[in-house]
Amino acid sequence: MRIIAPASSANLGPGYDVLSVALDGIYDVVDVNVEEGSGISIDVRGRYAEGVPEDPERNSAGIAAAELIRAAGVNVHVHISLRKEIPPSSGLGSSGAGAAGVVYALNRILGLGMDNRSLVEFAGRGERAAAGTAHYDNVTASLLGWFNVVRPEVPPSVVNLRPPRGARISFALAVPIGPRRRGKTKLARELVPHEAPMDLAVWNTASVAMIVSGILMGDVGLLGAGMVDRIVEPARSKMIPGYAKAREAALSAGALGVTISGAGPSMIAVAQNDAVSRKVADAMASAMEEEGTRAIRLISRP
Ligand code: HSE
Repeated sequence: MRIIAPASSANLGPGYDVLSVALDGIYDVVDVNVEEGSGISIDVRGRYAEGVPEDPERNSAGIAAAELIRAAGVNVHVHISLRKEIPPSSGLGSSGAGAAGVVYALNRILGLGMDNRSLVEFAGRGERAAAGTAHYDNVTASLLGWFNVVRPEVPPSVVNLRPPRGARISFALAVPIGPRRRGKTKLARELVPHEAPMDLAVWNTASVAMIVSGILMGDVGLLGAGMVDRIVEPARSKMIPGYAKAREAALSAGALGVTISGAGPSMIAVAQNDAVSRKVADAMASAMEEEGTRAIRLISRP
């Protein structure tokens, strides 16, 4: 079974581990075959295959598959063929996409009838391979598409949010390229403060509510205005080349909101349409390049 597993952007600023959006147009291709026998095998190809482990015990898709098969109590051999087109370690949910694709496919092939919460739970366990702890935001978006709210519990509560038909929302991304930093997500999570003052928690809660309202109302201005994180982003921004300049450049180019994509180092901005997004992506990437880091410009719809 062939699955198109979309990239995703987690957090949207204040929704650390809670909010995510699937990025249409940036995806991995995951082929899953089930045969007689036991165990899991993986081959990895594609533009961003380099450095992605084929060892099923070190690959998020392999770990998710193993956990699912064990829980389902079935004895089969699973072969996973991953075509990596999502840049890894960039804050675009690259490892989560593979895990989501495999879990989705196995549920269908084996007729397990698992609900969304269970699928998210198994795919999230695969994420441990990348981040050290299971977090569910990226895998939820890759599994369910559109925008999502996830509350981390076992199994996680998930709410899939779709803007009204006809709403125009476009995302601009600047993805720094350079030497791959293994364990980047783990490192970025270590920067997150363990405690937050109540006034910042209140700010972030209100901002998440603004984003969710903006999505449901199809109000991209409200969505963008909510994308201001006062707890995690200040701690992580130093990891992003040219962060302050890129942020300013995005807003000057017409972005309605801008933040770090997932654990970074990519930045994501929201705009009214693709034409503005193109300018915003270019402005952010150029600001990063002024700091000596080449960056890919991408635009995507939710
Ligand atoms: N919510 C996670 C984080 C996403 O920010 O660490 C990781 O891609």
